[in-house]
Amino acid sequence: MIYISSNNLQSGMILAQEVWGKSSFLPLVHSGTVLNPSIISRLISKGIPGVYIELAGCEDITVNEIITMEEKIRVTNEIEKIFKSLQFQNCNIFNCVESVGHIADYIVDIVVKNHECMMNIIDIKNYNEYSYIHSMQVGIFSTLIGKKMGYKNDKLKELSVAGMLHDIGKVNVPLEILDKPGALTSEEFDIMKNHPSYAMDKLSSCRTLSKDTLDGIMTHHEKLDGTGYPNGLKNDEIHPFGKIIAIADVYDALTSDRSYRKAWEPHNAINYMISYAGTHFDVDILNSFLLVASAYPVGVLVSLSNNLKGVVIDTVPGLPLNPIVKILTPGEHHGEIFDLANDINLLSVSITDTLKDPEEISRVLKENSDFSLIKKANQ
Ligand SMILES: [Fe+2]
Repeated sequence: MIYISSNNLQSGMILAQEVWGKSSFLPLVHSGTVLNPSIISRLISKGIPGVYIELAGCEDITVNEIITMEEKIRVTNEIEKIFKSLQFQNCNIFNCVESVGHIADYIVDIVVKNHECMMNIIDIKNYNEYSYIHSMQVGIFSTLIGKKMGYKNDKLKELSVAGMLHDIGKVNVPLEILDKPGALTSEEFDIMKNHPSYAMDKLSSCRTLSKDTLDGIMTHHEKLDGTGYPNGLKNDEIHPFGKIIAIADVYDALTSDRSYRKAWEPHNAINYMISYAGTHFDVDILNSFLLVASAYPVGVLVSLSNNLKGVVIDTVPGLPLNPIVKILTPGEHHGEIFDLANDINLLSVSITDTLKDPEEISRVLKENSDFSLIKKANQ
């Protein structure tokens, strides 16, 4: 299967993976569905940015999900309930923290059991409630990074809880500041910069939270060079949990649609983060992040520097910018597997970009599709 953005979908394409909507307990569209104009319009109107479709020769491409979409929606809904309870103060803080602990147990269990968990950021970005999805994603990403750093279960759970609660202090920031589409004034930004401290006001009385968890939440906006907030801490003054959450937080924020900008593609976000290694981000922790990050998610169509087009079929831990690509351009290389991480004959070949031009995407699909199906669906 391959990933196609919703605005490039065509009638006759066959859905390779079910598509879920927020808060729904059944998929919006089932796998195997042949797309038609009304289904495509529905996907676009629901804000679904893209879907996986079937393509001849790509049947064996599968996306390894850390957590199923169904479970992600369940966890997101749980986090939403907890945040709203804390916001309106209609829940005992101990009960809320206990609920987050259960979710952390679940995430740690999955991350520890799976040998090669990678971040797949395409799927969950389909949905609107940014804060809750972001909290879950930062919890998962932080746990993945912590595992690569050799943390054991108890520490991973404390880290996961810190990742999920890192922005809980934002429930005290006025909505007109949180949701402001333009740049914040310096007064507004001063209020926003207090959200780690607001979190401490809410959580520090809760004895079931460890000092590491609280320190991680408090320091997640500090930067190694001292330009972060709220305290302008430097290097070793910043708790390791804070350094991990900072990386998970920035990566997820950059790769998400926001009111003021479209989501960055993962490879652009990774390049940006590498450019701040040692100034904003801890180099060793960034290296652990690169072991679980995939710059070009499986199923994405890409252009190579030798003008061939292909689809990413696998990612290589530690070398996120050099995945394994199956060539889709007709000719002598059609169907060949290019291992851009390990094949010394391909040292001069790199990915130049993901395929975005609708005409180019259409051409690649036509060159590789079984058009009898498309014609049948159009009749
Ligand atoms: Fe934050």
